[in-house]
Amino acid sequence: MTVSEPAVAVAHPNIALVKYWGKRDEDLVLPFADSLSMTLDVFPTTTAVRLDPAAGADHVVMDGAVARGEVLHRTVRFLELVRERAGRRERAVVDTRNTVPVGAGLASSASGFAALALAAAHAYGLPGDSRALSRLARRGSGSAARSVFGGFVVWQAGTPDAPDPDQDSYAEPVTDARLDAALVAVVLESGPKPVSSREAMRHTVATAAPYRDWLADCRAALVRMREALRGGDMTTVGEIAEHNALGMHAAMEAARPAVRYRTAASDAVLGHVRALREEGVGAWATMDAGPNVKVLCAGADAGRIADRMRAVTGAPVVVARSGPGAGLRAEDA
Ligand code: PMV
Repeated sequence: MTVSEPAVAVAHPNIALVKYWGKRDEDLVLPFADSLSMTLDVFPTTTAVRLDPAAGADHVVMDGAVARGEVLHRTVRFLELVRERAGRRERAVVDTRNTVPVGAGLASSASGFAALALAAAHAYGLPGDSRALSRLARRGSGSAARSVFGGFVVWQAGTPDAPDPDQDSYAEPVTDARLDAALVAVVLESGPKPVSSREAMRHTVATAAPYRDWLADCRAALVRMREALRGGDMTTVGEIAEHNALGMHAAMEAARPAVRYRTAASDAVLGHVRALREEGVGAWATMDAGPNVKVLCAGADAGRIADRMRAVTGAPVVVARSGPGAGLRAEDA
């Protein structure tokens, strides 16, 4: 078998502080509004892509098991897009390794598609800068557009009447942020989520009346968040992030039938975060498409907040700080 040298890329998850929830274009993965996230320094995904000119189909291995079903389908569809852009036909052998539980609301799709986009673009010789890579990663999973960059990152929704909307929606780093923040992840469950974020978004947009208000609020929240990041104002960043996340979950829960990612265990953690604030500790909660709670705080407070969360929940707790953007690495697979 003649296979090329693999291209190996590493990317980290990101957690949104102003969330992306809802697409205005499902095919192109264009969101309704801008979102803002922090890329983490934990749970990297490493993906190797080799081209195999003799193969009749793509072969995908995820965490040591041959991928089938939806995972295979999404990966192949993404590779088709890369091949189309690169004007190439060879099939690929993809080997991807996550260090975060897949599908549990800890952003494995963000690190996964950012790593796949970089490795595949390199393997197929697709030219382009980081912005082009962010646009490409977006097509795999919206939040992946942000994991191309490190630190705080904004994903621009783009303007609906742009001549080429696909070109107009990409992430870019927030270069003027002056905040040392950490996210303390309380891992309540690590299994796959019952409803995919794709399905849940579609359903929220279509049936939840409060969604419109939440979306309008996101636009204002993003402007205030950027200002607070510039000013190093942890309290304002925390308050905006918690309000935005809880508003997103409230909108989902108002869908018919309701989409519920919050569990009784999540609610208990939210209570512990409130209790910390009442004691004067700067801690704010955020949640994604899963039951796990991430506690946003100043970097200096992360250790003691993690200790408290371990003590009161008994759950595994991971401290994440600001991490790097996606990068290529020497072959080691
Ligand atoms: O990129 P997706 O389709 O996995 O959507 C992610 C959506 C949230 O994580 C809930 C919010 C966000 O902005 O990351």
